[in-house]
Amino acid sequence: MIDYLAEESKTSPFLERRSIPSGGNMLTPITRNIWGFEHDHFMPGGLHFRGRTTVLRLPSGGLLLHSPNPVCDPLAAELEALGPVEVLVAPNSQHHVHFGPATERWPDARRWGAPTLVEARADLHFHHTLGRDTPAWGTVFTPHTIAGIPWLDETVFFHAETGSLVVTDLFFHIQRPANWQSRLFFWLYGLSGRPAQSPIVRMMAKDKPAAGRSAHTLLQLPVTRLVPAHGPVIEEDAASVLRRVLTRQARWAPAALTSSD
Ligand SMILES: [Fe+2]
Repeated sequence: MIDYLAEESKTSPFLERRSIPSGGNMLTPITRNIWGFEHDHFMPGGLHFRGRTTVLRLPSGGLLLHSPNPVCDPLAAELEALGPVEVLVAPNSQHHVHFGPATERWPDARRWGAPTLVEARADLHFHHTLGRDTPAWGTVFTPHTIAGIPWLDETVFFHAETGSLVVTDLFFHIQRPANWQSRLFFWLYGLSGRPAQSPIVRMMAKDKPAAGRSAHTLLQLPVTRLVPAHGPVIEEDAASVLRRVLTRQARWAPAALTSSD
């Protein structure tokens, strides 16, 4: 788990973060009314991995962009051919580096941000706060805020029409790290080769029962597809995979307590 806006990266050329469009910077259908496009992120220490922007078509016909990546003109044209970009979502404390350029490209889009971002990135001028305000589109792309882990401050989303759960850093799905530094990093954190939750997420929990109840809430959803920000979409045994990656978090709360969530 990495803070993309680490202060060091602003001040040290050795820690400068850079990112370039990748071969994945193409709009790809995921399922009905959902698309994605990826971007290569290069982090301090040689770490290299991809991040996905998930694109959802709203009932209005407009688009919601979840965790916006850099968008080149041809990709923007592809998106706008699907519908006008109406909503931009910064879903957790970490995914905001490329949000500003998205707001410049689509200044009329409504901006939703995690509470920590709304406070820390006033320059992004968010209109709404995830977990506090109720989105009109929430009936089709339902937000579920992960309680008890304020460092991550993540809201995940469930698209009931397709059974798709869209997550950001709640867990990763790094199949093949790109270089030895990335292999080492993801191996050390137990994130290599399979869907897994970073131990840092659990280590940073401040209210474990609350975080556990959030995990149980997700486990009660009729999930048939997992769309992580980092790694391939999971369609095989998605519910089982979700159960496995959230097992430790879910143990923090008895299942019997989840009915009130
Ligand atoms: Fe991330």
